[in-house]
Amino acid sequence: MFTPGVFSNRTLYSCVIPLWVLLSVSRAALATNPFTQYAVDFPDPNFVAAGKFGANVAGAEATIVAWAEEMASHGPWSVTNKPVVAPSGDKHDYMSWAPYEWADCSKAKNTTALSLSDESKECDFVFRDGQVNPERFIIQDFQSFFNLSDAVLYNSIAAVLQNKPSSKYSQNVANFVNTWFLNADTAMNPNLNFAQMNRGPGGQTGAYTGVLDLRGFAKIASGILILRNSKNTDWTADLDSQMIAWCNKYIAWLQTAPTAQQAAHATNNHGTIYVNQLAALKLIVKDTAGAVNWTQGYFNGFFQHQVNSTGDQPEEASRTHPYHYRNFNIAGMITNARLLTYADPTAKPWNATANGATIQKTVDFLMTTDPATHDEQDIKAEIYPNIAAIASVYGDPDGKYVKFLKATGFPYADDATFLWDQPLAGGDASANSSSSPDPESSRKGGASSSGVGAVGRACFLTFILLAFGLEFW
Ligand SMILES: *[C@@H]1O[C@H](CO)[C@@H](O)[C@H](O)[C@H]1NC(C)=O
Ligand SMILES: *[C@@H]1O[C@H](CO)[C@@H](O)[C@H](O)[C@H]1NC(C)=O
Ligand SMILES: *[C@@H]1O[C@H](CO)[C@@H](O)[C@H](O)[C@H]1NC(C)=O
Ligand SMILES: *[C@@H]1O[C@H](CO)[C@@H](O)[C@H](O)[C@H]1NC(C)=O
Ligand SMILES: *[C@@H]1O[C@H](CO)[C@@H](O)[C@H](O)[C@H]1NC(C)=O
Ligand SMILES: *[C@@H]1O[C@H](CO)[C@@H](O)[C@H](O)[C@H]1NC(C)=O
Repeated sequence: MFTPGVFSNRTLYSCVIPLWVLLSVSRAALATNPFTQYAVDFPDPNFVAAGKFGANVAGAEATIVAWAEEMASHGPWSVTNKPVVAPSGDKHDYMSWAPYEWADCSKAKNTTALSLSDESKECDFVFRDGQVNPERFIIQDFQSFFNLSDAVLYNSIAAVLQNKPSSKYSQNVANFVNTWFLNADTAMNPNLNFAQMNRGPGGQTGAYTGVLDLRGFAKIASGILILRNSKNTDWTADLDSQMIAWCNKYIAWLQTAPTAQQAAHATNNHGTIYVNQLAALKLIVKDTAGAVNWTQGYFNGFFQHQVNSTGDQPEEASRTHPYHYRNFNIAGMITNARLLTYADPTAKPWNATANGATIQKTVDFLMTTDPATHDEQDIKAEIYPNIAAIASVYGDPDGKYVKFLKATGFPYADDATFLWDQPLAGGDASANSSSSPDPESSRKGGASSSGVGAVGRACFLTFILLAFGLEFW
């Protein structure tokens, strides 16, 4: 079971209901949705770079610009900022801590005033399933990478919406990529040797589960390819070649390090999302054939035993939070299909079947289950982007996807995914002030969400706590 302390019904209610009421009264000013950190996605960089968006996506555009600015306000990020250095002693090493491990310092030499660094070396650590140790949040590397990923994606899309070769949005992307990956003072070493590390004398090395920490690479690849494909001048040839060099080193780590190999061979969501990450990196380094090989390999391999004839996913269904894990793995499947069709437009991953079931069937099945069965009603929103993606690819001839989304009350057409999950019915053409929102219109949009800033933060916190508490096992 998860701990009620991690998040509560009340958090989500205060999060959802008043916000939507507010949004609906401020629609005239192009309302924006509160920030949501989608698990993983790869908006088609060609579609976005072309910049041909319908009038119905004006709400999604305003939300994307607001999220680009919100994320940018937290950057730039660097692994060198954390207060505790990795066991290597190298401040350039990425580190995160295993979420469910708690210190037992009864056998430590100095029990009076242990620093966090001493505690991490000297104390024993005990596993408490589902209970996230709040100390995990002291080291911000993984939150930083999640935010960096969203900052790169939304600022790249916002740059296209400006319809100019250079803008503050693309300058943000260049600055954030340079700071995290490239600048000699602040760069991350290209490895995850200390990701989701167990602490204590028996720990000090990363775990295979930590490879999930950088799943945001699918979003980063989309953002970089959007700037490349739209010939943005802030994404310079020099940045591009330095980033390719970094990614090649990290790819080498992902394909050889023991923990990375363990993630590569995990047959559940870890394996799906390992492929998301590796294929996205292959696209950044222009190894299109490599991206095709790995994503096609996913549909011929793991996918075949992840899905059964009813469209359920036995390996995710057996978890304590099956609604969450099924959605998480479906987002990974969708991302692999998007990566593959981008790399090879003739590929047909959406038609791939496992025991007769397609990706569509996994979503259709999940729509018939009730998240409350396992006390997961608070995270019912995790299915919305998956439904939007499925409707955009397979169509919605009987209107069941739109009906489901409308019944939730969630303003799905104002959500970021609505921009790239097209075609999908909905949207507010009467609000089509412009298909390229200028800073003025985005500020108007921003104002409606800043009025509910605290609520928005609660939503985000709910999301991020979920991400930590639930996704990693
Ligand atoms: C215990 O740790 C504190 C803080 O790190 C330190 O000031 C103190 O000298 C230590 N005591 C012993 C006996 O090591
Ligand atoms: C990430 O973004 C969220 C939402 O805006 C914010 O609350 C959080 O402080 C950010 N964290 C970092 C490390 O940027
Ligand atoms: C192709 O992908 C498979 C995994 O599906 C991997 O084992 C193999 O090494 C890859 N081949 C190349 C040439 O990258
Ligand atoms: C599909 O998997 C689910 C979850 O493990 C299981 O309950 C169901 O019986 C399976 N269906 C078939 C046809 O095997
Ligand atoms: C599945 O394959 C058929 C036949 O090639 C094609 O018409 C259809 O568009 C494909 N479906 C998807 C979702 O790609
Ligand atoms: C919205 O945009 C479409 C064309 O994209 C136009 O035909 C329509 O009149 C616009 N609606 C409003 C209310 O401006």
